[in-house]
Amino acid sequence: MKALYDVPAPAKLNLFLHITGRRADGYHLLQSVFMLIDWQDRLHFERRADGLITREDLTMPLPQVDLTVRAAQALQARTGCGLGVHIGIHKSIPAQAGMGGGSSDAATCLLALNRLWGLNLPLNTLCQIGETLGADVPFFLRGHNAWVEGIGEHITPIDLPAAGTLVVKPPAGLSTPAIFSSPGLRRNTGTATISGFAANPFGFGHNDLQPIARTMCAEVEQVIEWMALHGLQGRMTGSGSAVFAVWPSGDEPNALREALASTPPGWLVKQCSSMEVHPLCGWATSDK
Ligand code: C5P
Repeated sequence: MKALYDVPAPAKLNLFLHITGRRADGYHLLQSVFMLIDWQDRLHFERRADGLITREDLTMPLPQVDLTVRAAQALQARTGCGLGVHIGIHKSIPAQAGMGGGSSDAATCLLALNRLWGLNLPLNTLCQIGETLGADVPFFLRGHNAWVEGIGEHITPIDLPAAGTLVVKPPAGLSTPAIFSSPGLRRNTGTATISGFAANPFGFGHNDLQPIARTMCAEVEQVIEWMALHGLQGRMTGSGSAVFAVWPSGDEPNALREALASTPPGWLVKQCSSMEVHPLCGWATSDK
């Protein structure tokens, strides 16, 4: 195999996100449900015999050493593989949105290069590498909607009811470390249970990062208010700045069409569906 084209990298939404504590190293203990949605980046991989890792941005420009390049470097370092790759990124998921776009690209890169370089590493090894790149990478590698705990590394697959969503990303982005390090962040939310969540999956809990984000970024506040004006309950995903409303699939709110017709200029607005599994689920073996 010399190349893999059009390999998908879906985004995620956090249906809720509770901060339950903080570790000595500053990382936060959390509880969250991660749901995959069909807002996807597309990546292309062409094998290089010279060992070099190069990248081409097919839509928006990315930092020179982004998470896909770092993922490829980490895979080379771990395996001693002498092959390289040229990566093309067709970016669609907005950055600084709390939608996991960078982490998802990194996960797709690890899964694709595992094939393209003939490494055949098991999923657990890819997750160990992924964890060093970002807290959300193992979730995308495992490929199931999930109940997530710890700092993001304890992942329990769960079945979610199919969902429709409206996702709105205002132009301003939010920095994850800045929000997590805010002195005003509530870090003592009580422990939740999967059964408690399952009783009300689209209304359960809250996002502890949202009150901080609302004060740091007026646009988050504006999106939540705009949704409320249209009868939609907006909630931020991850550390923002994207905000979403969610409903059971087929149960579209009446106000949706009207809301879509009156979107403020500059906002990215997309109606999405949940995904039952990641399109690359099964690409790495999980039994070794
Ligand atoms: O791992 P990732 O790059 O996604 O995390 C970005 C930043 O978010 C970390 O450097 C840390 O400041 C914060 N974070 C945290 N607790 C987590 C996840 C992220 O404090 N569980």
